[in-house]
Amino acid sequence: MKRSALKWNRYLSVAEIVRSYFCGKSGGNCFVHPVYDDARERLDGGWECGVLPESDVRLPDWVPEGIDVTVPNAARMYDYALGGYHNFAVDREYVERAEQLIPGASMVAHANRAFLGRAVRWLVDRGITQFLDIGSGIPTLGNVHEIALLATPQARVMYVDVDPVAVAHSRALLAGEPRVGVLQADLRHPGDIVNHPHVTGLLDFSEPIAVLLLAVLHFVSDADDPDAIMAELRDATVHGSYFVLSHGSPLPELDELDDLRRLYLKTPTPLHLRTPERIAHLLTGLDLVEPGIVPITDWHPDPDDDDERQRGVLAAVGRMP
Ligand SMILES: C[S@@+](CC[C@H](N)C(=O)[O-])C[C@H]1O[C@@H](n2cnc3c(N)ncnc32)[C@H](O)[C@@H]1O
Repeated sequence: MKRSALKWNRYLSVAEIVRSYFCGKSGGNCFVHPVYDDARERLDGGWECGVLPESDVRLPDWVPEGIDVTVPNAARMYDYALGGYHNFAVDREYVERAEQLIPGASMVAHANRAFLGRAVRWLVDRGITQFLDIGSGIPTLGNVHEIALLATPQARVMYVDVDPVAVAHSRALLAGEPRVGVLQADLRHPGDIVNHPHVTGLLDFSEPIAVLLLAVLHFVSDADDPDAIMAELRDATVHGSYFVLSHGSPLPELDELDDLRRLYLKTPTPLHLRTPERIAHLLTGLDLVEPGIVPITDWHPDPDDDDERQRGVLAAVGRMP
Protein backbone atom coordinates (compact mmCIF):
# COMPACT_ATOMS: atom_id res chain seq x y z
CA MET A 1 0.00 0.00 0.00
CA LYS A 2 1.35 3.37 -0.90
CA ARG A 3 2.51 5.66 1.82
CA SER A 4 0.37 8.70 1.94
CA ALA A 5 -0.24 11.63 4.15
CA LEU A 6 -3.57 13.34 4.25
CA LYS A 7 -3.24 17.05 4.39
CA TRP A 8 -6.50 17.97 6.04
CA ASN A 9 -6.59 21.65 5.31
CA ARG A 10 -9.40 21.87 2.79
CA TYR A 11 -11.82 23.01 5.45
CA LEU A 12 -10.28 24.73 8.39
CA SER A 13 -12.66 23.70 11.14
CA VAL A 14 -12.41 24.23 14.86
CA ALA A 15 -11.07 20.68 15.09
CA GLU A 16 -8.34 21.52 12.63
CA ILE A 17 -7.38 24.65 14.54
CA VAL A 18 -7.17 22.67 17.77
CA ARG A 19 -5.19 19.96 16.02
CA SER A 20 -2.70 22.39 14.52
CA TYR A 21 -2.27 23.93 17.97
CA PHE A 22 -1.46 20.53 19.46
CA CYS A 23 0.81 19.64 16.58
CA GLY A 24 2.65 22.88 17.09
CA LYS A 25 2.48 23.53 13.40
CA SER A 26 0.22 25.37 11.02
CA GLY A 27 -2.93 23.56 9.83
CA GLY A 28 -1.37 23.12 6.40
CA ASN A 29 1.80 21.47 7.67
CA CYS A 30 0.24 19.16 10.19
CA PHE A 31 -0.15 15.70 8.70
CA VAL A 32 -2.69 13.67 10.59
CA HIS A 33 -4.83 10.93 9.21
CA PRO A 34 -8.45 12.03 9.67
CA VAL A 35 -9.51 8.63 11.03
CA TYR A 36 -6.55 8.17 13.29
CA ASP A 37 -7.18 11.67 14.51
CA ASP A 38 -10.33 10.69 16.38
CA ALA A 39 -11.35 12.05 19.70
CA ARG A 40 -10.42 8.99 21.74
CA GLU A 41 -6.86 9.24 20.48
CA ARG A 42 -6.97 12.90 21.32
CA LEU A 43 -8.14 12.21 24.85
CA ASP A 44 -5.50 9.56 25.29
CA GLY A 45 -2.89 12.04 24.18
CA GLY A 46 -2.32 10.03 21.03
CA TRP A 47 -1.73 12.90 18.66
CA GLU A 48 0.17 11.97 15.55
CA CYS A 49 1.89 14.49 13.38
CA GLY A 50 3.87 14.02 10.24
CA VAL A 51 3.56 11.30 7.65
CA LEU A 52 1.58 8.26 8.74
CA PRO A 53 1.73 5.05 6.68
CA GLU A 54 -1.77 3.95 5.77
CA SER A 55 -1.00 0.50 7.14
CA ASP A 56 -0.61 2.10 10.58
CA VAL A 57 -4.02 3.69 10.47
CA ARG A 58 -6.45 1.97 12.77
CA LEU A 59 -9.99 2.72 13.77
CA PRO A 60 -10.70 3.58 17.39
CA ASP A 61 -12.17 0.73 19.43
CA TRP A 62 -15.64 2.29 19.64
CA VAL A 63 -16.18 1.94 15.88
CA PRO A 64 -18.28 -1.13 14.99
CA GLU A 65 -17.33 -3.29 12.01
CA GLY A 66 -18.28 -2.09 8.56
CA ILE A 67 -18.53 1.65 9.23
CA ASP A 68 -17.60 3.77 6.24
CA VAL A 69 -15.77 6.67 7.85
CA THR A 70 -15.71 8.62 4.60
CA VAL A 71 -19.49 9.09 4.49
CA PRO A 72 -21.02 11.78 6.71
CA ASN A 73 -23.60 10.53 9.15
CA ALA A 74 -26.44 12.36 10.93
CA ALA A 75 -25.78 10.79 14.36
CA ARG A 76 -22.07 11.65 14.32
CA MET A 77 -22.65 15.13 12.85
CA TYR A 78 -25.09 15.84 15.67
CA ASP A 79 -22.55 14.51 18.16
CA TYR A 80 -19.94 16.91 16.81
CA ALA A 81 -22.39 19.84 16.84
CA LEU A 82 -22.98 19.10 20.52
CA GLY A 83 -19.24 19.03 21.23
CA GLY A 84 -19.02 15.22 21.41
CA TYR A 85 -16.08 13.04 20.44
CA HIS A 86 -17.66 10.20 18.47
CA ASN A 87 -17.31 11.61 15.01
CA PHE A 88 -14.91 11.57 12.08
CA ALA A 89 -13.33 14.25 9.94
CA VAL A 90 -16.04 13.95 7.29
CA ASP A 91 -18.77 14.54 9.92
CA ARG A 92 -16.93 17.57 11.28
CA GLU A 93 -16.43 18.88 7.77
CA TYR A 94 -20.17 18.71 7.04
CA VAL A 95 -21.09 20.46 10.29
CA GLU A 96 -18.56 23.18 9.48
CA ARG A 97 -20.10 23.49 6.02
CA ALA A 98 -23.55 23.83 7.59
CA GLU A 99 -22.13 26.52 9.89
CA GLN A 100 -20.76 28.35 6.87
CA LEU A 101 -24.21 28.26 5.24
CA ILE A 102 -26.09 29.23 8.37
CA PRO A 103 -23.85 30.71 11.06
CA GLY A 104 -24.97 29.34 14.44
CA ALA A 105 -26.49 26.18 12.87
CA SER A 106 -24.89 24.04 15.59
CA MET A 107 -26.81 25.94 18.24
CA VAL A 108 -29.95 24.21 16.97
CA ALA A 109 -28.52 20.94 18.30
CA HIS A 110 -27.96 22.50 21.73
CA ALA A 111 -31.47 24.01 21.75
CA ASN A 112 -32.93 20.65 20.72
CA ARG A 113 -31.09 18.91 23.54
CA ALA A 114 -32.36 21.53 26.01
CA PHE A 115 -35.92 20.94 24.76
CA LEU A 116 -35.41 17.20 25.29
CA GLY A 117 -34.43 17.82 28.92
CA ARG A 118 -37.40 20.12 29.59
CA ALA A 119 -39.81 17.68 27.93
CA VAL A 120 -38.58 14.69 29.97
CA ARG A 121 -38.87 16.61 33.26
CA TRP A 122 -42.32 17.86 32.22
CA LEU A 123 -43.40 14.27 31.49
CA VAL A 124 -42.08 12.95 34.81
CA ASP A 125 -44.07 15.71 36.53
CA ARG A 126 -47.15 14.22 34.85
CA GLY A 127 -46.42 10.77 36.19
CA ILE A 128 -44.64 9.28 33.17
CA THR A 129 -41.90 6.82 34.09
CA GLN A 130 -41.52 4.89 30.81
CA PHE A 131 -39.67 6.34 27.84
CA LEU A 132 -39.20 4.95 24.34
CA ASP A 133 -36.57 7.20 22.77
CA ILE A 134 -36.43 6.52 19.01
CA GLY A 135 -33.55 8.07 17.09
CA SER A 136 -31.85 8.52 20.44
CA GLY A 137 -28.43 9.33 18.97
CA ILE A 138 -24.94 8.97 20.40
CA PRO A 139 -25.05 9.35 24.18
CA THR A 140 -24.01 12.80 25.23
CA LEU A 141 -24.68 15.31 27.95
CA GLY A 142 -28.22 15.16 29.32
CA ASN A 143 -29.33 11.72 28.19
CA VAL A 144 -32.95 10.76 28.77
CA HIS A 145 -32.17 8.11 31.41
CA GLU A 146 -29.98 10.53 33.38
CA ILE A 147 -32.70 13.18 33.46
CA ALA A 148 -35.52 10.72 34.09
CA LEU A 149 -33.73 8.68 36.78
CA LEU A 150 -32.74 11.86 38.56
CA ALA A 151 -36.40 12.88 38.61
CA THR A 152 -37.75 9.42 39.53
CA PRO A 153 -35.98 6.19 40.46
CA GLN A 154 -38.92 4.35 38.82
CA ALA A 155 -37.89 5.50 35.34
CA ARG A 156 -37.28 2.99 32.56
CA VAL A 157 -35.81 4.04 29.25
CA MET A 158 -35.41 2.16 25.98
CA TYR A 159 -33.06 3.76 23.48
CA VAL A 160 -33.54 2.92 19.80
CA ASP A 161 -31.39 4.06 16.92
CA VAL A 162 -30.62 2.78 13.46
CA ASP A 163 -27.01 3.92 13.61
CA PRO A 164 -24.47 1.30 14.71
CA VAL A 165 -22.13 3.84 16.33
CA ALA A 166 -24.97 5.31 18.39
CA VAL A 167 -26.09 1.82 19.44
CA ALA A 168 -22.60 0.50 20.22
CA HIS A 169 -21.75 3.51 22.32
CA SER A 170 -25.11 3.43 24.12
CA ARG A 171 -24.56 -0.25 24.94
CA ALA A 172 -21.07 0.42 26.25
CA LEU A 173 -22.29 3.29 28.43
CA LEU A 174 -25.33 1.49 29.78
CA ALA A 175 -23.96 -2.01 30.36
CA GLY A 176 -25.26 -3.31 33.67
CA GLU A 177 -27.94 -0.61 34.01
CA PRO A 178 -31.14 -2.65 34.56
CA ARG A 179 -33.60 0.20 34.00
CA VAL A 180 -32.25 1.12 30.58
CA GLY A 181 -32.15 -0.80 27.28
CA VAL A 182 -30.70 -0.25 23.83
CA LEU A 183 -31.99 -1.57 20.51
CA GLN A 184 -30.74 -1.13 17.00
CA ALA A 185 -33.84 -0.70 14.86
CA ASP A 186 -35.29 1.46 12.13
CA LEU A 187 -38.13 3.86 12.91
CA ARG A 188 -39.50 3.10 9.45
CA HIS A 189 -40.47 -0.32 10.78
CA PRO A 190 -42.20 0.63 14.04
CA GLY A 191 -43.69 -2.85 14.50
CA ASP A 192 -40.16 -4.24 14.85
CA ILE A 193 -39.62 -1.79 17.73
CA VAL A 194 -42.82 -2.02 19.74
CA ASN A 195 -42.98 -5.82 19.43
CA HIS A 196 -39.31 -6.47 20.07
CA PRO A 197 -38.79 -8.66 23.17
CA HIS A 198 -36.11 -6.31 24.53
CA VAL A 199 -38.59 -3.45 24.35
CA THR A 200 -41.62 -5.32 25.71
CA GLY A 201 -39.36 -6.84 28.37
CA LEU A 202 -38.46 -3.40 29.69
CA LEU A 203 -41.54 -1.28 28.96
CA ASP A 204 -45.11 -2.12 29.90
CA PHE A 205 -47.29 -1.05 27.00
CA SER A 206 -50.46 -1.49 29.08
CA GLU A 207 -49.31 1.58 31.04
CA PRO A 208 -48.65 5.09 29.67
CA ILE A 209 -45.39 5.54 27.80
CA ALA A 210 -43.68 8.61 26.40
CA VAL A 211 -42.51 8.06 22.85
CA LEU A 212 -39.70 10.50 22.11
CA LEU A 213 -39.09 11.33 18.45
CA LEU A 214 -36.63 14.16 18.64
CA ALA A 215 -34.94 15.41 15.50
CA VAL A 216 -35.55 12.07 13.79
CA LEU A 217 -38.80 12.23 11.80
CA HIS A 218 -37.24 14.77 9.43
CA PHE A 219 -34.97 11.92 8.30
CA VAL A 220 -38.04 9.93 7.25
CA SER A 221 -39.28 10.72 3.74
CA ASP A 222 -42.94 10.99 2.74
CA ALA A 223 -42.34 7.88 0.63
CA ASP A 224 -41.75 6.03 3.92
CA ASP A 225 -45.15 7.30 5.15
CA PRO A 226 -44.44 8.98 8.50
CA ASP A 227 -48.21 9.22 9.15
CA ALA A 228 -48.50 5.44 9.04
CA ILE A 229 -45.43 5.14 11.29
CA MET A 230 -47.01 7.50 13.82
CA ALA A 231 -50.32 5.63 13.62
CA GLU A 232 -48.63 2.29 14.31
CA LEU A 233 -46.74 3.72 17.30
CA ARG A 234 -49.90 5.40 18.57
CA ASP A 235 -51.88 2.16 18.30
CA ALA A 236 -49.25 0.42 20.45
CA THR A 237 -49.77 2.85 23.35
CA VAL A 238 -52.59 3.40 25.83
CA HIS A 239 -54.60 6.39 27.07
CA GLY A 240 -52.37 8.91 28.86
CA SER A 241 -49.29 8.16 26.74
CA TYR A 242 -47.39 11.04 25.19
CA PHE A 243 -45.60 11.65 21.90
CA VAL A 244 -42.83 14.23 21.88
CA LEU A 245 -41.60 15.54 18.54
CA SER A 246 -39.02 17.98 17.38
CA HIS A 247 -38.91 18.45 13.65
CA GLY A 248 -37.08 20.63 11.13
CA SER A 249 -39.38 23.08 9.39
CA PRO A 250 -38.86 25.30 6.32
CA LEU A 251 -38.33 29.02 6.79
CA PRO A 252 -39.34 30.57 3.44
CA GLU A 253 -37.24 33.69 4.06
CA LEU A 254 -34.08 31.64 4.72
CA ASP A 255 -32.80 30.54 1.30
CA GLU A 256 -29.80 28.92 2.97
CA LEU A 257 -32.08 26.19 4.36
CA ASP A 258 -32.35 24.92 0.80
CA ASP A 259 -28.56 24.75 0.64
CA LEU A 260 -28.58 22.89 3.95
CA ARG A 261 -31.09 20.45 2.55
CA ARG A 262 -28.83 19.98 -0.47
CA LEU A 263 -25.88 19.35 1.87
CA TYR A 264 -27.82 16.59 3.64
CA LEU A 265 -28.65 15.04 0.27
CA LYS A 266 -25.02 13.93 0.24
CA THR A 267 -25.56 12.00 3.48
CA PRO A 268 -27.45 8.69 3.73
CA THR A 269 -30.19 10.57 5.63
CA PRO A 270 -31.51 13.53 3.61
CA LEU A 271 -33.55 16.16 5.45
CA HIS A 272 -37.33 16.32 4.95
CA LEU A 273 -38.44 19.62 6.42
CA ARG A 274 -42.16 19.85 7.21
CA THR A 275 -44.53 22.74 7.81
CA PRO A 276 -46.40 23.17 11.14
CA GLU A 277 -49.57 21.97 9.39
CA ARG A 278 -47.82 18.82 8.20
CA ILE A 279 -46.38 18.22 11.67
CA ALA A 280 -49.89 18.69 13.13
CA HIS A 281 -51.06 15.98 10.76
CA LEU A 282 -48.42 13.61 12.16
CA LEU A 283 -50.09 14.07 15.54
CA THR A 284 -53.50 12.94 14.27
CA GLY A 285 -55.47 11.17 16.99
CA LEU A 286 -53.55 12.89 19.81
CA ASP A 287 -54.50 15.91 21.92
CA LEU A 288 -51.96 18.63 21.28
CA VAL A 289 -50.47 19.86 24.55
CA GLU A 290 -50.03 23.61 25.21
CA PRO A 291 -48.35 25.70 23.85
CA GLY A 292 -48.95 23.72 20.64
CA ILE A 293 -46.51 23.49 17.72
CA VAL A 294 -43.88 26.11 18.47
CA PRO A 295 -40.13 26.69 18.00
CA ILE A 296 -38.24 24.32 20.31
CA THR A 297 -36.95 27.27 22.33
CA ASP A 298 -40.54 28.41 23.00
CA TRP A 299 -41.77 25.10 24.43
CA HIS A 300 -42.06 25.63 28.20
CA PRO A 301 -38.75 27.51 28.43
CA ASP A 302 -37.07 27.58 31.82
CA PRO A 303 -37.24 31.05 33.39
CA ASP A 304 -33.49 31.57 33.05
CA ASP A 305 -33.26 30.26 29.43
CA ASP A 306 -31.52 32.73 27.20
CA ASP A 307 -31.08 30.48 24.14
CA GLU A 308 -31.42 32.23 20.81
CA ARG A 309 -34.88 31.53 19.33
CA GLN A 310 -34.70 28.60 16.88
CA ARG A 311 -37.63 28.86 14.47
CA GLY A 312 -36.28 26.22 12.09
CA VAL A 313 -37.03 23.32 14.43
CA LEU A 314 -40.50 22.92 15.90
CA ALA A 315 -41.57 21.16 19.08
CA ALA A 316 -44.87 19.39 19.58
CA VAL A 317 -46.23 17.16 22.32
CA GLY A 318 -49.38 15.10 21.87
CA ARG A 319 -51.29 13.07 24.46
CA MET A 320 -53.21 9.88 23.79
CA PRO A 321 -56.86 10.65 24.70
C1 LIG B 1 -30.13 14.55 15.11
S1 LIG B 1 -29.96 13.02 15.95
C2 LIG B 1 -31.07 13.29 17.31
C3 LIG B 1 -30.66 12.57 18.58
C4 LIG B 1 -31.60 12.75 19.77
N1 LIG B 1 -32.94 12.27 19.45
C5 LIG B 1 -31.70 14.19 20.19
O1 LIG B 1 -32.67 14.84 19.79
O2 LIG B 1 -30.84 14.69 20.89
C6 LIG B 1 -30.94 11.98 14.91
C7 LIG B 1 -30.80 10.51 15.20
O3 LIG B 1 -31.81 9.81 14.48
C8 LIG B 1 -31.25 8.59 14.03
N2 LIG B 1 -32.06 8.11 12.91
C9 LIG B 1 -32.15 8.62 11.66
N3 LIG B 1 -33.01 7.90 10.92
C10 LIG B 1 -33.46 6.89 11.73
C11 LIG B 1 -34.35 5.80 11.54
N4 LIG B 1 -34.95 5.58 10.38
N5 LIG B 1 -34.57 4.97 12.59
C12 LIG B 1 -33.97 5.16 13.79
N6 LIG B 1 -33.10 6.18 14.02
C13 LIG B 1 -32.85 7.03 13.01
C14 LIG B 1 -29.84 8.96 13.64
O4 LIG B 1 -29.01 7.82 13.59
C15 LIG B 1 -29.46 9.91 14.76
O5 LIG B 1 -28.86 9.25 15.83
